[in-house]
Amino acid sequence: METTGKNSFILITGACGGLGRAFAFACAERGNLFLTARSAERLAALKEEIAARCPAVRIECFPCDLTDAASRQALFSYIEERGFTFAGLCNVAGVDTQKAFERYTREKIAFQCRVNLEGTLCVTHFALAHRESAFEIVTVGSISGVYPMPYFAIYSATKAALASFFSSLRVELKGQGVKVTTVQPGGIPTRPDIIEDIKGQGLWGRLSAKSPQFVAKKSLAAVQKNRRICIPGFWNKVIARVPKLVPLSWRMHFIARRWKKLEKDAF
Ligand SMILES: NC(=O)c1ccc[n+]([C@@H]2O[C@H](COP(=O)([O-])OP(=O)(O)OC[C@H]3O[C@@H](n4cnc5c(N)ncnc54)[C@H](OP(=O)(O)O)[C@@H]3O)[C@@H](O)[C@H]2O)c1
Repeated sequence: METTGKNSFILITGACGGLGRAFAFACAERGNLFLTARSAERLAALKEEIAARCPAVRIECFPCDLTDAASRQALFSYIEERGFTFAGLCNVAGVDTQKAFERYTREKIAFQCRVNLEGTLCVTHFALAHRESAFEIVTVGSISGVYPMPYFAIYSATKAALASFFSSLRVELKGQGVKVTTVQPGGIPTRPDIIEDIKGQGLWGRLSAKSPQFVAKKSLAAVQKNRRICIPGFWNKVIARVPKLVPLSWRMHFIARRWKKLEKDAF
């Protein structure tokens, strides 16, 4: 993923989050950045921080709520009016909630589906229409998308849908200079609540957790090789293979027992 001129960018959604920041700093070594998230202030602060470290990089920011069609359109118009094109897209924005499905509000059901799926697909559709001849897409799914997770059900389903969608897309775009990778990380200590969750999982949490910098680096290396799926970390690769060895009903039972104890609204 390398930009090709002054109007060529790598587009990063969720840029102000823990993992988005790591992607932004890693991509700054590859060229110009177009950063988006909801808060204009946090985007401006991030831009300043990256510019201090990488003064040669051109950084554009535009705040956008990915759940809102008008906000997405404002982002797309801003880009189109300036004639920007994309060498790469990092779909990092995502939200998670842990609780029994019946305890969700309908607003939070819709919000989670919109950020994780609708927003990601609309941005991808737009970026594809403004791509350069070589174009790379990295989408952050989750290891939770490898198999169904009771009490983390919507998150798990949306992340599974992303892996499915981008696996199809890479076939549709074969031979057109587009590389497509879905990343399925385990725990990443980004927010305080996630750091607590990882601690609460004991040894397994520690083995599975990888830093945002590690995940970003592995993701960018994987898309360069056009890997369909990237699972950063040895133990996470082991977890991802378990489905092939253990019956689904056993896995569901184990996961439900473990996750039933947690209840968290992260947005
Ligand atoms: N941390 C983990 O353990 C872990 C594990 C596997 C996968 N992941 C995935 O990694 C990605 C990043 O997670 P993170 O840990 O860095 O979480 P985070 O710090 O909460 O970052 C989430 C990012 O998503 C953006 N976002 C949320 N709602 C949005 C909306 N309506 N419109 C636009 N942007 C929105 C946030 O933007 P604002 O700055 O505007 O809030 C923020 O930049 C997510 O897709 C997550 O599912 C995380």
